[in-house]
Formats: sequence, C-alpha cells, structure tokens
Amino acid sequence: MHVKNLSIVNFRNFSSKLYTFEDRTMITGVNGSGKTSIIEAIYYLTNFKSFRTSNDKKLIKIGEDSFIINLEGERGGEDFVLGIMYKDTKKLLSINGNRVSKLINGFGFFVSVIFSTYDKLLSDRVALYRRKFVDRLISTIDNEYFENLIQYHSILKRRNFILKEEGDKRLLETYSVQLSERSLYLYERRLEFITYFEDVLNQLYEKVFERKGLVKVKYFSSKDGGDFKDIPLLEKFKTNFSFEKQKKRTMFGPHLDDILITVESIPVSDFGSEGEKTLLGITLKIAELNLIYENIGEYPVVLIDDAFSELDRIKTNKLLEIFESYPQVIITFPKKWENLENYKIIDLDREKR
Ligand SMILES: Nc1ncnc2c1ncn2[C@@H]1O[C@H](COP(=O)(O)OP(=O)(O)OP(=O)(O)O)[C@@H](O)[C@H]1O
Ligand SMILES: [Mg+2]
Repeated sequence: MHVKNLSIVNFRNFSSKLYTFEDRTMITGVNGSGKTSIIEAIYYLTNFKSFRTSNDKKLIKIGEDSFIINLEGERGGEDFVLGIMYKDTKKLLSINGNRVSKLINGFGFFVSVIFSTYDKLLSDRVALYRRKFVDRLISTIDNEYFENLIQYHSILKRRNFILKEEGDKRLLETYSVQLSERSLYLYERRLEFITYFEDVLNQLYEKVFERKGLVKVKYFSSKDGGDFKDIPLLEKFKTNFSFEKQKKRTMFGPHLDDILITVESIPVSDFGSEGEKTLLGITLKIAELNLIYENIGEYPVVLIDDAFSELDRIKTNKLLEIFESYPQVIITFPKKWENLENYKIIDLDREKR
C-alpha cells in the first residue's frame, strides 16, 4: 500500500494543495503550519473519519462549505485514485472515478495506521479505548466477530432498557440467553488475540529495551471479578438479577471486560511513566500493523504524527529503526530530525515564504 499524491481542497487551514510522497517522507513546520492536517487527510481515506475529531464539519476550512480529498496511490501492484467530498453532512466517495454508493463498500480499500499522541490512551486507566482498539482490530480481520459484536450491543441495549424501565422479566431471560450466546465467540477470539498480542509486544519490547519476557497480557473478565474462568455468562446473570436491577444496567459481559498489561509485573495503566505509556501505545499499534499484514498480505501506510514527543532520543531512534522495515512511512516533526537522512522533506515553513 502506497500514497503517491495527495490533493486537498478547503481542508483545515489549506485552500488548495498537492503533495507528493516517497517511501520515506518527513513533514516539518512550526506549530500550526498544518503537519497534522496533512496526515489527517491521508488517514481520512482509510476510515472516512478523522482520528482527532468526530465532527467532520471541523475539517472544512473556515468560511467554506465543503472539502475534497483526492489520493493517488498503489495497492497490490495497481494504481488507484480514491476521492472523497464532504458537503452538507454527506460524504461522496469515488474509486477510480466511479461513485461508490455505500461508504461501507470503500472500507479497507486504502489501509493506513496512524501513530499519534492519542495512542497513550491505550494504556490509560479507562478500559474503553483498549476495548475499542481490540474490537476494531479483530473486526477488521474477522467478519464473524464484527457481526457478533453488533448483535451483542443491540441485545445489550434492549436488556439495559428493561432493567431500567422495570420491564418484563421473561424478556430479560431471553435477552440473557442471547447475550450469553454471542459472548462466547467474542471471548474466544479475544483470548486468542491476547496470546498473539503478548508475543508481539514482547518481541517489540525486546528490540527497544534489549530485555526479554517483560510484558504480560491478561484478560480481565467482569463476569468473575478478574480471572477469566469459563463460567457461562448466563449463570452470572441468573445469580445477580437483583444486583443488576438495582444498578439498572447489565453488569457482566464482554462490554465491560478489559485487558491488563503489565511490564515487569507492574500494571502500566496505574504505574507507568508517561514515556512507558506512550511506548506501550506505540507497540500495540505496531502489533496492529503486523496483524493487518498477516491478514491482507500488504503493509498499511504508516503515518506518524507527534507520536514520539514523550520519548527520549535513544528510544525514538530505536523505534525509527523498527519503522525502517515498513514500505512507506510518513512522519511529522516540528523540526528536521537529523538522523533521518533518507527521508524526503516537505517543509511547510518554506512553502509559506
Ligand atoms: N477548519 C479549519 N479551518 C481553518 N483553519 C483550521 C481549521 N482547523 C484547524 N485549523 C488551523 O490549521 C492550522 C494547522 O493545524 P495543524 O494541527 O495541522 O498544525 P500542526 O502543524 O500539526 O501543528 P502542531 O505542531 O502544533 O501540532 C492551525 O493553525 C489550526 O488552528
Ligand atoms: Mg500537529
């Protein structure tokens, strides 16, 4: 997967621009020059949403009423043009000049992975980001997981409604059975995934810290208070009915589970330094890159925006070494990073002059 050219119109602070990318490209410029916006435009064509806002209107240049992004690239040895226009809350997508009627049909066409300051949230105390990350990742490589997850959440919503509104208890039992059934697949896949993740994280930590076996990843199950034992979810519902009524929501199940990551037996989310949390976030994302490669046979484009700002020079250089093995890397730095000799430079400050 490669990005060759990117053209943006009325996107963030840009009126109309065309940028060309090589296998290695570094975007530099002072604060507010537009480095993140360029990365954001490329990433937009992966997910059709931004990684820093869920409000697409914010992406339109102030004073304008629409934006357009066109990306020329290469996938599986073939050139493509992917274009999107956002206007009046609608997103019009085209592939090689042909309109794509449903956005969902364009997912997975152009794959990129973004490394940014938001990755630190993956090692935060709040489980939500980790859960979303794991769910999104397994969903991209396993349709059955995605379907189970959607069904699970829709049943969960109905079950919570009954708990809240003092609804029909018989219906509650039906929903409990249905949730329990859906959760089986989710548990199985998540547990498999975590074993894989532990291996990948350890390999990466070994490269960066030159020490082995540091990282342990454990599934934290809400249905048995932590240790994952194979107690059916249904039993948990049956024995805790009054508790759930009191809380007015579903208190057990995959939607509340977490993964616990420890480095040298210390949970990173509670005790990690800022740098350690950042590093863990980055290694989780590298694991994502590798997993996508194993499943689609091509490496995604690596986008790195300000992701290393909390790391020391040695770790930054070690990570950059790791990224050398990926086909295309686009990175932002406020100033030129002197160790990156082989990078093409897009200097936004120079453009302004
Ligand atoms: N919708 C918009 N219309 C016009 N300007 C915008 C819009 N959204 C953001 N901007 C401005 O665009 C500029 C570029 O923002 P961006 O975040 O891309 O900068 P950056 O180079 O990544 O800066 P930093 O080094 O601080 O991360 C900022 O001055 C920002 O205020
Ligand atoms: Mg930025």
